[in-house]
Amino acid sequence: MADPRAIVALVILLFIFFSPPPGQEPLVLARSRLEHIVASERHDLTVLNQTHLGDFDPAQHRWLNISGFRENDTFAWQALPLIKERARHQFAHVLGHENLARLDGEHADQTPLPLYRNLTGTMYGEWVRSPIQTSVVPPKLNMSEYAAIGPFGPIPIDSFSKNVTAKSGLLEVWFEEADTQATLLLRGDKGVAREVKAQVTVRDGDVGDSWHSRLFGVHFLDTGNIMLATTTDKFAGIFGLPHMALSSHNYRSAQELLNRTLAMSIEQQEDGLLQNFRPWGPAAEGTSESALAPICDLVVYLQQHLVPVPGVKPGPDQESLLSFIENEIRFPTGASIPPTQQMVFSMVAFSPDCGFVIESKGPPDFAPQEANHLRGLKMEVEYERARSHLLLFAAVVGGQLFFFLRQMRDASTPSTRSRISFYTISMLSLGDGFTTMVFCLISLFVQALWVPLIATAFLAFMSVSFFGMRFLMDIWAVQAPERERRERQERQRQQQQRPTAIPTAPTVAPTNTEENTPTQPPAPTQLPIITPAGADTLPQPVTTGRPIDTGATPIFIPSDQDMQAEEDAPNAAATGVEAGQRASGFGSLYTRFYFLLLATLFLSLNATSWPPGLRRGYFTILAFCYLSFWVPQIHRNCMRNCRHALRWDFVAGQSLLRLVPFAYFYGYEQNILFAVVDLIDLGVLAAWIWIQVLLLLSQEIIGPRWFVSWTWVPPAYDYHPILRDDEEANNLPIGATTSMPSAEQEKEAKDKGKRVFDCAICMHEIEVPVLHGDSAAEGLSTGSLVLERRKYMVTPCRHIFHSSCLEGWMKFRLVCPIDREELPPL
Ligand SMILES: *[C@@H]1O[C@H](CO)[C@@H](O)[C@H](O)[C@H]1NC(C)=O
Ligand SMILES: *[C@@H]1O[C@H](CO)[C@@H](O)[C@H](O)[C@H]1NC(C)=O
Ligand SMILES: *[C@@H]1O[C@H](CO)[C@@H](O)[C@H](O)[C@H]1NC(C)=O
Ligand SMILES: *[C@@H]1O[C@H](CO)[C@@H](O)[C@H](O)[C@H]1NC(C)=O
Ligand SMILES: *[C@@H]1O[C@H](CO)[C@@H](O)[C@H](O)[C@H]1NC(C)=O
Ligand SMILES: *[C@@H]1O[C@H](CO)[C@@H](O)[C@H](O)[C@H]1NC(C)=O
Repeated sequence: MADPRAIVALVILLFIFFSPPPGQEPLVLARSRLEHIVASERHDLTVLNQTHLGDFDPAQHRWLNISGFRENDTFAWQALPLIKERARHQFAHVLGHENLARLDGEHADQTPLPLYRNLTGTMYGEWVRSPIQTSVVPPKLNMSEYAAIGPFGPIPIDSFSKNVTAKSGLLEVWFEEADTQATLLLRGDKGVAREVKAQVTVRDGDVGDSWHSRLFGVHFLDTGNIMLATTTDKFAGIFGLPHMALSSHNYRSAQELLNRTLAMSIEQQEDGLLQNFRPWGPAAEGTSESALAPICDLVVYLQQHLVPVPGVKPGPDQESLLSFIENEIRFPTGASIPPTQQMVFSMVAFSPDCGFVIESKGPPDFAPQEANHLRGLKMEVEYERARSHLLLFAAVVGGQLFFFLRQMRDASTPSTRSRISFYTISMLSLGDGFTTMVFCLISLFVQALWVPLIATAFLAFMSVSFFGMRFLMDIWAVQAPERERRERQERQRQQQQRPTAIPTAPTVAPTNTEENTPTQPPAPTQLPIITPAGADTLPQPVTTGRPIDTGATPIFIPSDQDMQAEEDAPNAAATGVEAGQRASGFGSLYTRFYFLLLATLFLSLNATSWPPGLRRGYFTILAFCYLSFWVPQIHRNCMRNCRHALRWDFVAGQSLLRLVPFAYFYGYEQNILFAVVDLIDLGVLAAWIWIQVLLLLSQEIIGPRWFVSWTWVPPAYDYHPILRDDEEANNLPIGATTSMPSAEQEKEAKDKGKRVFDCAICMHEIEVPVLHGDSAAEGLSTGSLVLERRKYMVTPCRHIFHSSCLEGWMKFRLVCPIDREELPPL
């Protein structure tokens, strides 16, 4: 683990393991395959060129000679008229019956409809089974005909993948329309139809798997109608697409457009300009799907809804304003435009080979509140939102950095640093490191957001590498003696447990502990009362307990120093060696830090392709672990019996700001990833982090160890003892009586159960409650005592100070200001 080379090798291995296999095949093999594919595409194109409307009519037994449209394919084509009728029905519902004639191109000279002409963007919604599903009989296919030929003969299959089995689920459609004349069909100077590419993501049921398919088709600009189809070996969807058009007008436009664009693509493919063997294949670009498993093919009809244009009377003005808006958001000139409305689509999708028919969920079959078809933003608007959200996130990272810097400045002395938990700061830094990596990665893929992504990543990077790492290094160095002591104790314990060990070591070790243990007072209980060990001796826990106290003071000389000298080199040389060891220790820690970061990143990248339930579970668990960052601090406070390690604005600020991204994804419906809102998970995360904060706060007020049993934690000195003035437990600080100006005052104070001392730091008086024999028995009101005791501090050498005075002093020196006795750390 500590060897950096091993880690680099492991990272490379991980990378190779998790990165997707390249989708390309060797060129030599490819040539003959390409010729074969192009030949069959040319044949299909001829069929497209030479057929007429009505040539494909399964009811009249008229078939096309292209794959998927032949009679002996036995696909469920008898349902096609039903599906078309359903799509027309949706068209009429969306645009109104009076516009039905537009499908036939008869209203060409009438006022254009207010519709978006550029659909580039992503739509989200739900799907349900169509009401006509009952009249569509899934075809009985001869599966052995579709079995792929593997190296050892046909591979038997019993079903296709990308099938739909559930009753409903989620749906996502992503459109892309290129802005070239090549894919646009013009009539005169007016665009009629444009080729469109889409990726449909269907989630089968609530818990089911989700799959994507890439489809190609035609967008009819006048009516907002869209036809899409997959193209695979068994279904030449794009070549037969015009025959599935809703009207003869659409048929002609689609045939003319596709005849041209497909011919162009085939020519490019012949010239080797296209990398892809299947320019219209169902696998998304950049991914290679096993060509062996056949998939369910899809034919999709979509209808864009009219875009509400407020403040303009219906008519041609609406359309021109809308196209102005569309232009303005794409090429901003600074004109003031009304807020951009979202795009809405109704959908009917039909699988001719698997026989399912699904629709987008929404009116008229469902109430609009329940589900309202597919909705989404145009890509430019989506990017604009993403940009402003990123800016907000950058502000959050900046806020984190601000609190972090204040905390760093506050913890500038060894004594304050030694209180801070190394692991709490590590977890915070890991979070920043993760942000850096993820944002850098995303910025590679989303060109439009490169600047805000990189800027935010840089801020997070600065936070982790310049400040986080620096602070960690400081804390690590300060806490090094503490770790060494712990290791030594560990060794001692092991040696004690092994009676056959070297004779010298065991003899030293037991005496050492024997010195400590017999006089050791029982660990203080909930209400710490220092027990007597003789009327006039010093309170016990002080010097004897100290070796076990985890005081991380740089000037601390352990009582068993001679042992260390024995084990290590001579003392003078040892310090140099130790410094070197410390540095190398941090080096290995550094590699471990980045290793953990990279491993988490790779696992998370891999997790994005898991089934949705598993993926969500993974990210929630990751978030939960990350948001546990106060736990190590609570543990450290508890073990060292110290409190107030971190500033309160740091604790509150980090808790709030680090929760913001989770609140965004779990609680904000319109987040840019369209992550499903889950208020329960968010509630759990928020509650968990605030429980930790409350624990920290209670440690500050009630005491660091109030919620654990005292036997679990190593004993530590209590700076806030209950002071008693009786025969057995006289633990009053030195100088109680001398400071009394007059006997009267003293008496008065004594009556109230108080004594007055001098604080040698601020030179003011301290009035402290002191228990006498009787009142001690009564137990007094312990609640008020808890708070009273926080106001003063008694050192092991029995000097008393104001808490604030001594705490301020102890930031710099860990010795008593009066007699230079060493103080256990706070
Ligand atoms: C398309 O059909 C026309 C005749 O209808 C023919 O002249 C032309 O060569 C054909 N084009 C292709 C690419 O087959
Ligand atoms: C269908 O096309 C194939 C070539 O792909 C040809 O061999 C066959 O004769 C055609 N069938 C009909 C009925 O035209
Ligand atoms: C399925 O197709 C295979 C050949 O591809 C044929 O041998 C078999 O008889 C067919 N089965 C049925 C039930 O038609
Ligand atoms: C698709 O799923 C349906 C319902 O589960 C099933 O009846 C049909 O056989 C499947 N089709 C294929 C080709 O796997
Ligand atoms: C549609 O908008 C996208 C994003 O701005 C752009 O890349 C694309 O070229 C546009 N297409 C058309 C046909 O205007
Ligand atoms: C298809 O394109 C060819 C030229 O590539 C043209 O001759 C033919 O008329 C076109 N067919 C149709 C139906 O538009």
